[in-house]
Amino acid sequence: QQMVADSLFILNNFARQYFSKNLFESEEGQAIGLSYLKERGFREEIMERFQLGYCLQTRDSFAQTALAAQYSIENLQKSGLVVVRDDKPLDNYRGRIIFPVHNQTGKVIGFGARIIGKSDRAPKYINTPENEVYIKSKILYGTYFARQAIDKFDECLLVEGYTDVLSLHQAGIENVVASGGTSLTMDQLRLIKKYTNNLTIIYDGDAAGVKAALRGLDMALEEGLNVKLVLIPDKEDPDSYVNKVGAASFRDFIDKNKKDFILFQLEVQMKDVGNDASKKAAVVTHVAETIAKINKLEDFTKQQDYIKKCAELLRIEEGGLVNLVNKFI
Ligand code: CTP
Ligand code: MN
Ligand code: MN
Ligand code: MN
Ligand code: MN
Repeated sequence: QQMVADSLFILNNFARQYFSKNLFESEEGQAIGLSYLKERGFREEIMERFQLGYCLQTRDSFAQTALAAQYSIENLQKSGLVVVRDDKPLDNYRGRIIFPVHNQTGKVIGFGARIIGKSDRAPKYINTPENEVYIKSKILYGTYFARQAIDKFDECLLVEGYTDVLSLHQAGIENVVASGGTSLTMDQLRLIKKYTNNLTIIYDGDAAGVKAALRGLDMALEEGLNVKLVLIPDKEDPDSYVNKVGAASFRDFIDKNKKDFILFQLEVQMKDVGNDASKKAAVVTHVAETIAKINKLEDFTKQQDYIKKCAELLRIEEGGLVNLVNKFI
């Protein structure tokens, strides 16, 4: 097991160097990959820090180079770098930008490969398949580069994607990791908890992003994290938004729009209530249920604080809410 893991690390590192050389030094890489990244506003310094690369469009230039360097076809397949088609090796990430994924110690465990531009036929990203070193549910993209800043600010920002992490770094915000899409796992939250108790979720401003952010609440509470939420304006994501408004305005936006998760949820629901007593009763019940979850951690001060604030927002007696919360414990 460890031997397989070690050989995958070595192969991934070889691939990382090969793709990086192609991005910065080959004619195709410069004309297609580098110019795409520059057009999107990424500076070379950030591309180098995150060790970005480019996979040539040719059928098997990486596979042949790796096989000639004595890497086995088994590991090439296992790593997801090469697939076998018609009994012949085929580079899996042809014509794509390569985002190496690092573990907490900086070793490359896999890759995300983005198509250049748009396509109806091919997926936007291809990711490494599950193997001995790439365990999807436990990966947070960017942890290796975020550790120091997370320590410094005692806070971790969570975004959806690779480019969000890069653009935030470029804007001087380094305490940021990506969940790689919208489905956050308990293992990812546990990883964050090892570094800090304070999580701020900054998901895309589309319906999927908002829904996923709200879903993260229960999980994060169970993990004992203090969760805050920033809603990015409609149709933007952190990457597009910071490129639109600039670094300073973006940082300002984050500071001003950070909302406490429970209170945010309550605000959203209260907008919908109006004078409808049964709707209000449902919201009160839901809030009580959420607050009861905090109790799992026996964090009574925090719980009492929420009861007070929520009772105020709901315009109900604190004592009544306390009773209701106790019913869910
Ligand atoms: N993702 C994926 N496979 C896809 C689409 C998305 O693995 N086909 C993951 C990637 O980690 C991606 C994240 O989900 O970074 C968020 O998806 P999305 O918001 O659609 O992409 P962006 O990160 O915004 O990528 P880009 O800015 O390059 O369009
Ligand atoms: Mn999205
Ligand atoms: Mn999307
Ligand atoms: Mn996005
Ligand atoms: Mn994006």
